Amino acid sequence: MNPIDMSRQDAHLLIALEPVVSRALDSHLNSATDWYPHRYIPWSEGKDYDGVLGGEPWDPTQARLDPAVRVGLIHNLLSEDNLPSYHRVIAELFGLDGAWGTWVNRWTVEEGRHGMAIRDYLVVTRATDPVALEDTRSAHVQGGYEIDYRGDVLASLIYVTLQELATRVSYRNMKQICGEPGCEALLQNIAQDENRHMIFYRAVLEAAVQLVPDRFMSALAHVMRTFRVPGHSAPGFARMGRTMAQAGIYSPAQHHEEVMLPLTRFLRVFHAEGLTQEGEQAREEIADLLKAAEQRANRFSQFLAIPHLPESEAAAGVRR
Ligand SMILES: [Fe+2]
Ligand SMILES: [Fe+2]
Repeated sequence: MNPIDMSRQDAHLLIALEPVVSRALDSHLNSATDWYPHRYIPWSEGKDYDGVLGGEPWDPTQARLDPAVRVGLIHNLLSEDNLPSYHRVIAELFGLDGAWGTWVNRWTVEEGRHGMAIRDYLVVTRATDPVALEDTRSAHVQGGYEIDYRGDVLASLIYVTLQELATRVSYRNMKQICGEPGCEALLQNIAQDENRHMIFYRAVLEAAVQLVPDRFMSALAHVMRTFRVPGHSAPGFARMGRTMAQAGIYSPAQHHEEVMLPLTRFLRVFHAEGLTQEGEQAREEIADLLKAAEQRANRFSQFLAIPHLPESEAAAGVRR
C-alpha cells in the first residue's frame, strides 16, 4: 500500500493517539453485539425475478414500503456500497498496524453488514427496481471515493465522527417512520452500529482536543465549513437528500441540532483551554458557523411549514 503523503506532525499525532485508540477499541469490542443480517429479511415474501429463473419482473406497484423510507434506504445503501473505497481511505490514513489497524478491519466488518442487509431487504420485498439499484451501485462504486481531507488526519477524524453521527440520526429517523416491524428491527441494529462507531471516534477526538487544541479548532472549522456526505457524487443523490429532508429523516435542522451541536458540546469546544490567537480565531469561526447552521435550520423548518411546498422551493431550503 502506498502511504498517503502525511506530515510528520500528523504521523506523531497518530502515534500519540494510539493508547486512546486501544482503549476505545476495547470498549467498542466489549459492547459489540454481533447480529446476523439474514435474520432480518422476510425471505418468505420473496419470489423469483425475471431473467434466468423466468420469474416475475419488478413493477412499481409491488413497492409497499413508505416512499420516504424507501428513498432514504436507497440513499444510505449507495453510501454503504462504496465500502471498498472507504476501507482504502481509512487504511491509508490510520495504517493497518496495531490498534488502528484492528479498528480499520473491525469497522469494515460492521459496515459491510449494513449494505448486505439493506440490499437484501429492498430486493426481497420488491421495494425498488433491482436493475436500477444495481446500475446505480455500479456507476457509484466505479467512480470511487476520496475523502475531502486526504493527508489531514485531524480533519479526517472530525469528518468521520460527524458522518457516523449523521448516519446514525438518519437510520434512527427512518426506523421511526417506516411502520414495518422487521425493517424497524434492522434499522435499529444499523443505527446502533453507527452510534458505536461515532462513540469510538468521539473518544479519539476528545483526546485530540487536549493534545493539539489549536490545530483541532482549525480542523473543526474547516470541516464544518466544507462538510458534505460521502455519497455526494452518486446518481440522484441531491434529489434523494431533498426527499429525506422533507420527511424529517435528515434535514438542515437535524444536521445542526442532532449532529453539530451535540458534538461541539461533548468536546467542550467553547471551554477548551490553552489556545493561541490562531486557535481562538478558529473557535470564533466555529461559533459563526454554528449560528449560520441554526439560521439555515430555522429557514428550512419555515419552508416545511408552508402547505403544498413546491419542489423547487424545498430544494432551495435544503441548499441554502
Ligand atoms: Fe454503515
Ligand atoms: Fe458506521
